[in-house]
Amino acid sequence: MSDKLTVKEFIAKKNKTKLSLLTCYDYSFACIFDKCGLDALVVGDSLTNVVLGLEDTRKISLREMLNHVLAVSKGAQNTMIIVDMPYKAYQVDPSKCVDNAKKLIAAGADAVKVEWFPKVEGKGYEYVIKKITKAGIPVMGHIGLTPQTAKLLGGFKVQGKTVDSGIELIEQACRVEKAGAFGVVLECVPADLAKLITEKIGIPTIGIGAGKDCDGQVLVSYDVLGIYQGKRPKFARVYADLSKIIKEAVGSFIDDVCDAKFPSLSESFTIDDEVLKEIKNNI
Ligand code: KIV
Repeated sequence: MSDKLTVKEFIAKKNKTKLSLLTCYDYSFACIFDKCGLDALVVGDSLTNVVLGLEDTRKISLREMLNHVLAVSKGAQNTMIIVDMPYKAYQVDPSKCVDNAKKLIAAGADAVKVEWFPKVEGKGYEYVIKKITKAGIPVMGHIGLTPQTAKLLGGFKVQGKTVDSGIELIEQACRVEKAGAFGVVLECVPADLAKLITEKIGIPTIGIGAGKDCDGQVLVSYDVLGIYQGKRPKFARVYADLSKIIKEAVGSFIDDVCDAKFPSLSESFTIDDEVLKEIKNNI
């Protein structure tokens, strides 16, 4: 029996306890994170940046994402797994969203996450949330800075800083809830606006660069653990410098190899002396 939080339990945490989420992209990290007490793991398309080294999250395909979902779900059997729908899996042709969400669920996702986007051939964001939830798949929304369509928002900038855009964000959050989402990520939203949104809607808000009053927080694990070497946003608090530990470990490995201190006898395999003698006699 899995200890995984259900969607109902996830929602019920609003106004009771804060929700803690981290991104996760592979089996080994999933095994560790599964024992940490996180409320959910997000197989985020940020893996395009921090794992694949590409700038644009729209580059990740559904097929690539499926591999990561398989790996994470194998390692984390007791933590809810929320998977980003890749851009091409719903924004290019929204009518394909259900088929593609089903593939992610079949690979081990418990829920999918979709970023706000402008209408495509009359089919917009709420269409996607409604269609997927009607198919029985839980959906988490994502508003504010939506990296898949960041160009349309004027780049990677804080959102909702003007009266119009602030009101627009509050309206979007209400529409996300009404469409059936069980939670919504608020990315790069001023803290006081995120507080207003959190108070206005009945589903949990999960902040990333959205202040402390959201119902929960999510961060990119490679930032939190000091693995990603690229530019980190100001809200990404670093809790450990794993890159330093890795560099030291690799340096020690190189030293041991150069000094013939690695491998030791106990790290090597043996062969019977007689067999070795026989081999030597025959070469
Ligand atoms: O891709 C990502 O890492 C995200 C975070 C907001 C969780 O979408």
